[in-house]
Amino acid sequence: MCGIVAYIGNKNCRDILINGLKRLEYRGYDSAGIGILAPKTAPKSSDPGYEIKVIKEAGKIKDLEKLLSDMDFDGTVGIGHTRWATHGVPNRANAHPHFDCHGEIAVVHNGIIENYAEIKEELVKKGHKFISDTDTEVLPHLIEEYLKSEADGKLLIAMQRLLKKIRGSGAIVALSLKHPDEIVAGRIASPLIVGVSKEGNFFASDMPAVLEHTHHFVIINDYETVRITRDDIQIYDLEGIIIQRDPFRVNWTLESAEKSGYEDFMLKEMFEQPYGIRETMRGRITDGVFHFEEINLSEEQIRNLKKIQIIACGTSYHAALTGKLIIEKWAGIPVEVDISSEYRYRDPIVDRDCLFIAITQSGETIDTLAAIREARKKGAKVMAVTNVVGSTIARESDSVIYTHAGPEIGVCATKTFTAQVIVMYMIGLFLARIKGTVDETVYEKIIEELEIIPNKVQQILNNAGHIKKIADETYRHTCFLFLGRIYGFPMSLEGALKLKEISYIHAEGYAAGEMKHGPIALTDTRTIVVGVIPQDFVYEKMLSNLQEVKARNAKIFALITEGDKNTAKYADYVFEIPKTREELYGILAVVPLQLYAYYIAKNLSRNVDQPRNLAKSVTVE
Ligand code: AGP
Repeated sequence: MCGIVAYIGNKNCRDILINGLKRLEYRGYDSAGIGILAPKTAPKSSDPGYEIKVIKEAGKIKDLEKLLSDMDFDGTVGIGHTRWATHGVPNRANAHPHFDCHGEIAVVHNGIIENYAEIKEELVKKGHKFISDTDTEVLPHLIEEYLKSEADGKLLIAMQRLLKKIRGSGAIVALSLKHPDEIVAGRIASPLIVGVSKEGNFFASDMPAVLEHTHHFVIINDYETVRITRDDIQIYDLEGIIIQRDPFRVNWTLESAEKSGYEDFMLKEMFEQPYGIRETMRGRITDGVFHFEEINLSEEQIRNLKKIQIIACGTSYHAALTGKLIIEKWAGIPVEVDISSEYRYRDPIVDRDCLFIAITQSGETIDTLAAIREARKKGAKVMAVTNVVGSTIARESDSVIYTHAGPEIGVCATKTFTAQVIVMYMIGLFLARIKGTVDETVYEKIIEELEIIPNKVQQILNNAGHIKKIADETYRHTCFLFLGRIYGFPMSLEGALKLKEISYIHAEGYAAGEMKHGPIALTDTRTIVVGVIPQDFVYEKMLSNLQEVKARNAKIFALITEGDKNTAKYADYVFEIPKTREELYGILAVVPLQLYAYYIAKNLSRNVDQPRNLAKSVTVE
């Protein structure tokens, strides 16, 4: 949500900012802008010798590029921003950067200033004038005030004062005419990193923004302020005490953050799932046994575990639901699953003997972050499952299990989801072995099966053309019900979420047994019922549910186990899933559901990588 790129160095920053913002498009946005410090051609003697040139536009970065195409817009210091509207509609006036009264201080911001109204009132009383509806605009005006008084003309000190004044969240980056050799930034709760290179330094919301210039990064923590110059970075706390932190190197390649010939990131990322699953398991199975050093508990603590609490949002929540089924079945430990935004406000009872797991692909989701803070305050030990090394939730947790799906740029979580699900299977099995709740031969068989799951996912992907055909024939329907039972249920929820997100068609995911308690009223000729019906212990129940909706004129698309001729008799469309153990069907079933959502959305000419109103990491409530 919102993206920030800033650069100070010896290169022209115009393309660095534009390309960096393009790489952040996946975060979701509705307007964009850049500001650069440009030397004045004929400065007066009283002038600072620079001006801040700015260009902003509602819409996409390509709209900004059009405006830039015949402008002189060169400089070596600049800031850029993609805005996801919270306060004020997406238009040019509300786009960032925002300025102080004299156009001398430019600020970009990702987050929400909760007390902006009262700050604005104070500033208006002092004579400040505002031209946008945003909360952000108070920030350059506040900096202007601090520079005049307490900050003694020092931009970094003004930023420190500002962080003490505001409530809410923010990654804030400021540029000033009178400070042409530095850019300063501060952070409360919104992601901010520094990229370090020989040819200059960067601020960004996420690493892919500057991966083409550097692989060396420093993560900025809450309530820290930073000054970057052409050849140095300095981090300070709010009292001005310097903080030493060395850059670390990331191995992500630029190609991994590019489309590599695929039409969309989402398509590429779905096809990367066999790799993501394999990489996530790699190094964690030796001699047929799982090793999970990241689970920071002794064998005795595991044997005494009374409960596991999992929290997550959106797609990650569906991985959590799978985790509950698997852990309870294999390890016999009760698992409670909560949506993070509910958990954080419901005054939860935190049991110190419980293992607390937070699942989040981005590692930045604000509700999940707030929930783990709440749980830790009450004494819980938190283990994060995330795909992003160095993300806020990874750093604020007591231990981390990384999924190794590679960077996911499409807003839709696909490969990070299957990597999370495989982690749930691994955790379940790991705990079960220590607790002795799964027979040794069964344990070996499950591991054998897990090791070939990537091949089975590949087999499904090889058949994507068949899903496309079904999507081509069904995309005009206006109501989709996704039904499943037990291991198929979280995948029904996920299938419906994927379809909603990228096609904007109304879709519901339901436990099939709930049909008769309401949703069956929706079924008629306009409805497609997507049934996840593997040949497991609830197969016959699922089959009855599908017959019931068939009798009410809905069309049926069934995901069946290969060779299941029986269901095929009732379904209008079928897709065969390779055979596997019944507990593992979920990870196979979700892949055709992702593909189905994708091809329906493509039929409707939707932007699947950046669906409307959505953001890759939800960093505001
Ligand atoms: C997934 O397709 C969605 N974009 C969304 O539901 C996402 O899963 C949710 O916002 C949670 O994100 P996280 O995994 O980064 O915490």
